[in-house]
Parts: sequence; C-alpha cells; structure tokens
Amino acid sequence: MFEQKYPHLLQPLRLRGLTVRNRIMSAPNMLFQTIGGRTTEYYTRYLEAKARGGAGIVTLGEVPVCDGGCHTPGTVMSRENLAIFSEMSAAIREHGAVSSVELTHGGRNARHEFNVKNPMGPDETDSMYGHVNAMTKQDMEDVAEAFADAAEYWYGAGFDTVLIHAAHGWLFPQFLSPLANHRTDEYGGSLENRMRFPLMTLKRIRDRVGPEKVVMIRLSGADREPGGMTVEEVTEFLSRAQEYVDLAEISSEGITWFFGTTFRPWCLNSDLSAAIKQSGKVRIPVFSIGSVLSPEMAEGLIASGKCDGVSMSRALIADPCLPEKAMEGRGEDVRPCLRCLNCTDGDNLHRHFSCTVNPLTGHEQRLGFGDEPVAPAAHKKKVLVVGGGPAGMTAAVTAARRGHRVILCEKSGRLGGTVNFCDEDSLKVDLRRWRDWLLRQTAKAAVEVLLNTEVTPELVRALAPDHIIAAAGAEPVTPNIPGVGLARHALAAYGEPGSVGDRVVVIGGGLVGVECGMHLCNTGHAVTVLEAMDEAVRDAGPVYKIGLTAKAEELGLDLRTGAKVLEITADGVRYEKDGREETLPADTVLYAVGMRSRTETYLALAPLAPHVDLVGDCKAPGKLLGAVHGGYFAAMDIGRF
Ligand SMILES: Cc1cc2nc3c(=O)[nH]c(=O)nc-3n(C[C@H](O)[C@H](O)[C@H](O)COP(=O)(O)O)c2cc1C
Ligand code: SF4
Repeated sequence: MFEQKYPHLLQPLRLRGLTVRNRIMSAPNMLFQTIGGRTTEYYTRYLEAKARGGAGIVTLGEVPVCDGGCHTPGTVMSRENLAIFSEMSAAIREHGAVSSVELTHGGRNARHEFNVKNPMGPDETDSMYGHVNAMTKQDMEDVAEAFADAAEYWYGAGFDTVLIHAAHGWLFPQFLSPLANHRTDEYGGSLENRMRFPLMTLKRIRDRVGPEKVVMIRLSGADREPGGMTVEEVTEFLSRAQEYVDLAEISSEGITWFFGTTFRPWCLNSDLSAAIKQSGKVRIPVFSIGSVLSPEMAEGLIASGKCDGVSMSRALIADPCLPEKAMEGRGEDVRPCLRCLNCTDGDNLHRHFSCTVNPLTGHEQRLGFGDEPVAPAAHKKKVLVVGGGPAGMTAAVTAARRGHRVILCEKSGRLGGTVNFCDEDSLKVDLRRWRDWLLRQTAKAAVEVLLNTEVTPELVRALAPDHIIAAAGAEPVTPNIPGVGLARHALAAYGEPGSVGDRVVVIGGGLVGVECGMHLCNTGHAVTVLEAMDEAVRDAGPVYKIGLTAKAEELGLDLRTGAKVLEITADGVRYEKDGREETLPADTVLYAVGMRSRTETYLALAPLAPHVDLVGDCKAPGKLLGAVHGGYFAAMDIGRF
C-alpha cells in the first residue's frame, strides 16, 4: 500500500471555503520587470510553474495598494490590466493551486521616484530615499480603504486570497515596532496603540470582502533587536488579528533573518512560529518562512508542532517541482538552493532574475518548465564531456537525459571539481547539499564516468565523439609578490587542514579569500585578510554581502582593505596601507587573487570533433551560475539539427 513519506507536509488544509492541497505555500516573489504596470507573460509562466510543481498556494509578490506606498515601479491595479491578472490567477488555479496576491504599502521605505505623493510612515523622518511625512488619521483612513479596494480588485481578478504584507520593514511593522513608531497619540506607545492602525486595516478588508473570502497575513514574528517588537507582542497582535485573517505566515524583521544566507541556520524563523503556536492564543494556521529548504525540513517542523505549514521562496525557485517530488517520496531529487541570493541580488528592477542552480526558473516563458525542455534530442550523438566539475556534470546529466550517449572524463580520482572544497568548509553546508545532489543525478543518469582519465588527442580519436564539451575548469593565479613560494592558494588549505597554523594571513579579499578566512576563523584560527582595493568582496551581491559581512564580524575575521602586500617572509606578510608599512606575523600565508581558465584544453580539442563547446570556468572563471547555466545550455543545443 502507498505510504506518504511526508504526511504532515502533504496534509490538505481548509481555509474557510478553500481547500489547499498541501501545506506548502510558494512565497511572494517580485522578480520581474513590469511594463506599464502590467506583469508580463514571464511572470505568469513563472507562477504557473510553481502551481504545476505542486505548491498548495502560489503567491504573486508585492502589489503596492496606493500612491505614497510604492517601493517598486509596481503592478498597477487598473481596469485595463484586469484581464492579464485574471489570466495569471487562472494559470495558477488550473493546476490545482490556490492563487494568492500580496498587498503592500512601503510606508517610510517607499521610494520617492515611484510615487507622486510623498512617502509616509508612523513618524516624520528621513529615509534613505528622502523625507517621510508622519501619517495623519485621514492618511490611515485612506490607506485602510486602499487595502480594502485592492483586496476587492484582486478577488475580482479571480484570485482566491490576498496576503497582507506586515513584515520586512514595510508599513504595518513600522507601526507595530517601538523602534520605528515614536508617536505620542493613540497610534503609538503602548502595544494597544501600536496595533490600532494595522487592526483597523485588517477589519476594513474583512468588512469589505465579507465572511467567505480568505485573507492571509505575512507577519514578522519579532524585531530581533533590543527594544524592538517581541514575539509575545506579535502573538498578542495575531490573537486579535485572527478575527479578520485566516492564516499567518511568520517571518522576521532584520534583513539577515528574512533573507537568510548560507551562514544562517536552516528554518531560521521557526522559533517564532513555534512560540506563537505554543502560546495557545492563536487558533488560525501558522506557517513558517525562512530557509526551509527541503521536504524533510518542512515535515520535521510541522510534525514537531513548530508550525502548521511552510512557506518557501528560494527552495521553490531552485526547484519548483519540490512539492511533486515530495508527493512521490523523492526528496533526494529536489534540487537544493544554495542561499547564494543571486536571485535577489541581480538588479531585478531592470531584468528578470536568474537562479544559480536552475537555469529555467524565471525564464519558463522562453525555455519551458521542469523536465519538458529536456525532451529527447532529434538526433542522438556521442558526447564527450571533459571535466567532472559542476559545468561538466551538469552538461553530462542534461545530455544523457536527452538521449545522447555521454562519456564524462575526469582527470582526478573523483567528481566535483573545485566545489569539493565544501567537504572541508565548516560553513558551506548548502553547497555540500547541492554538490551531493549533482553527484546523485550524475550517478542516476546514463553517463559513463571515466575517472583518472586525462583527455588526450589519442583518446578523442579512439572515442570518436560527435560533440565535445570542454569543462576543464580553471587554475589559481599566483600573485607576483616576493616570497610567494612560501604561500599557497586558499583552496589548497582545505585539502590539508592540519597544515594550517594558528595565525593565518589571506592575500586577496574577494569571495574566495574571505570565505576561506571565515571558515578558518570558524575552526579556531586567527585570520587576517588583506585586500588591495578599498572594498572587499566586490564580487558579492549586495544582500549576500550583508549576510556575509555580519557573519565575518561575528567570527572575528580581521579584514583590511587598501592593504597592498609587499613581501611574504618566513615570519609573515609585509604590507602597506595609508602610506605606512606593517608586518603581520603569520604561521600560514594563503592567497586568492583570481583564477585563470584552462583555455588551452579547449584549443587542443577544438580541431578533434565537429562540435566543441567551451563552458564554465574553462570559458571564463566566475561564480557557479556560469558553470551550471553554461553546462546546461551547451547540452541542450546538441543534436537539434
Ligand atoms: C528573488 C526574491 C524576491 C522576493 N520578493 C518578495 C516579494 O515580492 N514580497 C515579499 O514579501 N518577499 C519577497 N521575497 C522574500 C521571500 O518571500 C522570503 O521571505 C525570503 O526569501 C525568505 O524565504 P526563503 O528562505 O524560503 O527564501 C523575495 C525573495 C527573493 C529571493
Ligand atoms: S539563486 Fe541562489 S539563493 Fe536564489 S534560489 Fe537559486 S540557489 Fe537559491
């Protein structure tokens, strides 16, 4: 008899008249450029993919309800746009999911450039965008009315439910938090007063939409800062708000909590949902959001009573089919998210986002969804993949799944390439999960793997491939510094942890150098990173960098910028900063100043087969996204004609 592997996660849920097929909400994501206030077909296809992947609830992100509260150029609720939005709702509902839309007001964080009215919040203040007015009672009336109007609009567009955004520093947490609300009238001071306007708005929405519609709230469970809103206060608020809302999705204030990087624990806001549930004061379903990355994690949270369901953002960006795979008991096939935040760090105001590990997400409109694009190739070819790192394995798996005969040659004795450093890195747990997943996919695919095999012209002639994919990676650049022979590359330190002394100096403050330094700090070394430029980790995206910097500080990493290294000696590193020279004593000196592509491998192979592709670091050293996407697309183009 069939037995569900994740019974708590896959249990249906009733919300008033709605039946949700499981406990997985696809969290709101605003990742797409809008044109004239309209979401494009790209966004519809993206949400449709989430529904087809099996999520119970699929949410359209951030729709500002009125002028003065816009923090993005936004989705405009006009009569002309109604047809587009109802098509979007249909695209979600046709696949069995509940369609949801998030309604927002940025309050003091609204951006002047997107509003005619001046942004406003609880207090008169200056935000990073300009002056902010304090809201009058009339302003509050108008905003409450705008939320009610918006809810009515979206139900009119066919959406099943609305999600009121009361998290992440937008208007409602600004009122709820004593850190942001310094009013002295009946809307500030005591909790009763701070709750007044948010509760008034929720009541207004409920009164407008009537008793049958489902209304949900996204709520920060705490400020997590001294003097801030506590989980007890939020519980009290929710115990009152539940008269108007049917489900609460619990996140947190603080960007490193709501955008957890790989340096944060998994399921990082489940302490807040658990506290709310354990209070016994809240009877509506409580969902947890934040770094819930797999069906196992989600099942564990619900089974242990920490929440009634989960909301997932990046886990479903990395693999929209996570719920489907959970239904089939195939948790091990879920493509893991790295929490690298490329999806949010990629200038989403001006272009569609991309996910490091999933080349299709966000581009379903052009590229398709799930396994569809990997349909069998028109012409089956013999493919030789040179290099068993991320690019090579991705290419090999993709080509094999399309029906090609694939031989993957790896010079060393194991697959994984450069990312194998994650075996030793005490902080790169997410990368390890992903690498292991890719190894599993390679093992499952019909790929013939030849380890300890260097690809020579003789071997190529013997194999006679139709197509070669050169994914031979890159090698470290050695800096031109006197005494460099006393140092080695940062990645080499992972292979020989016992050889790293107590005091370490890392030369080069890019991602590789800093993350290696963080790992060494975390394992008990005293580490200084020297970066010649005025800014470190320039290769990190802005939000990831906030998380990384916070963790580096917590670990006590000594990061010095504008520090030009002059010499490495047996005692340490002599460098110059601000015109002054200093010598840092060191037991171990490492460097990470860039990589150089193994282009010569490609050049040697280029004449040996009809088609020879160059992918990953072998083409241009870079982040994992280039390797995964490069390997995938190269394999997708084989045998089309
Ligand atoms: C690319 C991206 C876009 C997001 N857009 C929104 C949004 O429109 N509204 C919102 O409330 N949160 C947004 N978020 C935050 C997520 O909904 C979620 O709270 C956060 O990613 C943490 O969940 P996770 O760990 O499951 O990714 C976005 C997150 C990402 C990664
Ligand atoms: S880009 Fe990175 S953080 Fe975002 S979903 Fe993909 S793997 Fe996860």
